[in-house]
Amino acid sequence: MTFSCILASLVLAFATAHSVLAAATTASNRHVKCPTGQVTSNAACCALFPMVDKIQQDLFDGGECGEEAHSALRLSFHDAIGFSIHGGKGGGADGSILVFNSTELQFHANGGIDDITARQFPVFQELNLTAGDFVHLAAAVGTANCPGAPRLKYMFGRPPPKGPAHDLTVPEPTDSVTSILTRFADAGFSPKEAIALLSSHTIAAADVVDPTIPGTPFDSTVGTFDTQVFLEVLLKGSLFPGNGSQPGEVLSPLHGELRLQSDFALSRDPRTACFWQSMVNNQKSMMNQFHDAMAKMQVLGQDTSRLIDCSDVVPVPKPFNQNIKFPASFSKKDLQLTCKQIPFPNLATVRGPAPTIAPVPGS
Ligand code: HEM
Repeated sequence: MTFSCILASLVLAFATAHSVLAAATTASNRHVKCPTGQVTSNAACCALFPMVDKIQQDLFDGGECGEEAHSALRLSFHDAIGFSIHGGKGGGADGSILVFNSTELQFHANGGIDDITARQFPVFQELNLTAGDFVHLAAAVGTANCPGAPRLKYMFGRPPPKGPAHDLTVPEPTDSVTSILTRFADAGFSPKEAIALLSSHTIAAADVVDPTIPGTPFDSTVGTFDTQVFLEVLLKGSLFPGNGSQPGEVLSPLHGELRLQSDFALSRDPRTACFWQSMVNNQKSMMNQFHDAMAKMQVLGQDTSRLIDCSDVVPVPKPFNQNIKFPASFSKKDLQLTCKQIPFPNLATVRGPAPTIAPVPGS
């Protein structure tokens, strides 16, 4: 081959590669109608719509914000946080918690995670997704079932996990604020982002903190992605809902409600108290901050230049537009506020006697 022939071939190869890239870029900017009828920004996302339906049916009882949806969100955190910006702690949001569950479920901080990995594994095996794509899709879909949640971003195309995450990457409720913030910083999150991620505890309950009372919620509205948990953690605690004080548990204000020591400490620590308090009755801000912090968390450790934005496969959550309220019998006088820089919102009180919060069914 002459030099000019080689040059011509190189130019042709470059032009072809360039036009393939250009086509891909155009495809990602236009609306594609999938064979199943839905519209998405990229044809590669079409395959996900039937998978979302299957996840809703097989995992979330047809689209409920129940125990499995809550646990799917927790699982995405425990998977993704196995990562350090300095390297050497795991592949992040790679689904390793599902594939290497025999290793990761031994870690103390993963107590109670076995139920959801057992539930998710058969569904994962039936779908043609990598473990990372599956775990983080299930979390986005499950969260969308909870009224008030933001519609989470979903990036598609994670490679299979290479190995299990390391132990001691998941914070524990017995950890100090310094240790929690240090761990979050090691994974790339600021204190503000850590509090934003803890909005998740508005749809959370504990099974193993006190095993005598499985499914004990962290706030009085566990089926709604509102800011109630930020309010209720700031109330003076007076009781333990179950078998006395357990490791990682502190006094709660309400019968049937469990308070984590870590939530209590973060809500009152000078480094995080104002972030915590500013969430109270600030639904829009909480949604935006949670959305952005989750978007970062769900691609930790991934090469994002290789992922496709398939956020439009995530169902649109029902809105929550009301002001939150103090639980019945509580008011401003029961607050323990350490952030003096911002005013506390005026909130009404639910009428009636102090409630007993019901456990989450199926826990
Ligand atoms: C300081 C950091 C955190 C600590 C110490 C912590 C601790 C805990 C604990 C102890 C439980 C109860 C486990 C049980 O007894 O069953 C729990 C539940 C939960 N956590 Fe966290 N968590 C943290 C951060 C997060 C983050 C960042 C997310 C998500 C983005 C998350 C989502 C959840 C959810 C959704 C549940 C409820 C699971 C269910 O109801 O089945 N947590 N957390």
